[in-house]
Amino acid sequence: MEKTKVGIIGVGTVGSGVARLLLDHGDRTARHAGRVLWLEKAAVRDLKKARGCDLPAGVLTDDVDEVINHPEIEVVAMLMGGLEPARTVMLRLLKAGKDVVTANKALLAEHGPEIFDTARELGRSVAFEASVAGGIPIIANIGQCLSANQITSLHGILNGTSNFILTKMQEGDDYAAAVAEAQRLGYAEADPAMDVDGSDAAQKLAILAHLAFGARLDWRNIPRSGIDKLDLIDVQYAEEMGYRIKLLAIADLKDWGLDCEVNPALVRAGSPLGEVSGPFNGVLVKGDAVGPLFFYGQGAGQMPTASAVVADLIDTAVGRTAITFRSLGLWSEELRGVEQGEFAKSTGKRYIRVMVEDHPGVLADVTKAFGDEGISIASVLQKEATEPGGVVGLVIMTHPASEAATDNACAKIAKLPACRTEPVKLWVRD
Ligand code: NAP
Ligand code: HSE
Repeated sequence: MEKTKVGIIGVGTVGSGVARLLLDHGDRTARHAGRVLWLEKAAVRDLKKARGCDLPAGVLTDDVDEVINHPEIEVVAMLMGGLEPARTVMLRLLKAGKDVVTANKALLAEHGPEIFDTARELGRSVAFEASVAGGIPIIANIGQCLSANQITSLHGILNGTSNFILTKMQEGDDYAAAVAEAQRLGYAEADPAMDVDGSDAAQKLAILAHLAFGARLDWRNIPRSGIDKLDLIDVQYAEEMGYRIKLLAIADLKDWGLDCEVNPALVRAGSPLGEVSGPFNGVLVKGDAVGPLFFYGQGAGQMPTASAVVADLIDTAVGRTAITFRSLGLWSEELRGVEQGEFAKSTGKRYIRVMVEDHPGVLADVTKAFGDEGISIASVLQKEATEPGGVVGLVIMTHPASEAATDNACAKIAKLPACRTEPVKLWVRD
């Protein structure tokens, strides 16, 4: 059987999973590729670290040039994280005539145009299924299988680490302990701040929004917040009201542009997104022909992510990636679609929680602030104070209202003498 020689750069959580699949299941990959995917070289920084897989003698090196300049390696899984030296290595691999497979969404969200233009100019391909939603084949589905549709909306839980932490908090665990556990299990980024502040989900949303809508978004301009500022009390209130809090990445096609954001939001318990727990991801996509579709699976972790990388290696080895890569024209001027809309125009239901003194007229003052902005209240929750005149949590659920009007109402509430905290504002996505 013919051989395609493969290189790996970065044998960490994902890279060691890829090596295990190539080495332990070569028969499986050969059956699907019609050729053997032969692991020729794997580059790391530190040769002394344990790799969790049995690499044959001579495969491991601490010199990336041994992969980049290897005359027989045709395709490389580029599995180091971060921006540099990852960007330089990626460009050097393409210039050395290699096709590349990567899981590095930060690199694509930041330098996608340069990397994809370079690959096109050189007649090479870049495959990146593992960069979004780990083991879920969302890139292939949006980029190819749904191409008869105008996608109208995309709502996703795209960060496994945040979802794992939220699930642990729901079960009563401490936030810091949950972050440490996500790191130990290999879900988190090298800098876990990118997971919990919404940056990782915004980078993935920028990639999906490009595929689905042709939008060329700078991920930094996607309005976002993460779960790092979330208060446990809101997780508990949401639960009582029949909701779960999830870090949602959203791109909705509106007549005023693409409404994009990443924020913690309330979703109904029992709904598909509401039931996504642990390191799992879920993506709800609506197309004008196909209607709603829901994708679900493990969004982070060694083997789910390696599954996506190896499928890309097979597609690249048999030549499928080259065809889709050429025809999709990713990040090219031809694929420039809808522009990002102004976030203040976003409308939707909100959960507002504020700590107030328990005096006569306080509830009336708070509800008046909403009424003055033309916002209708859907429900109110207030727990009895433990002592007379004490401080109570007041939760208001609104009917759909604009971001600008909700911000104005919250600013008025914050100035009320009885108000003890800045109002907490979360989207409600039923
Ligand atoms: P990781 O465990 O930190 O592994 C990174 C690997 O890159 C390590 O083996 C490291 O070598 C190597 N490396 C770093 N700098 C290098 C350099 N200058 N030269 C040679 N090797 C270098 O990271 P990971 O979790 O596998 O993630 C890899 C990529 O996949 C990231 O872009 C991440 O965002 C993405 N991703 C991860 C997951 C996940 O669940 N972990 C899921 C989807 C996507 P040493 O081991 O010697 O330090
Ligand atoms: N750190 C990422 C996450 C890995 O937790 O979702 C998958 O991209």
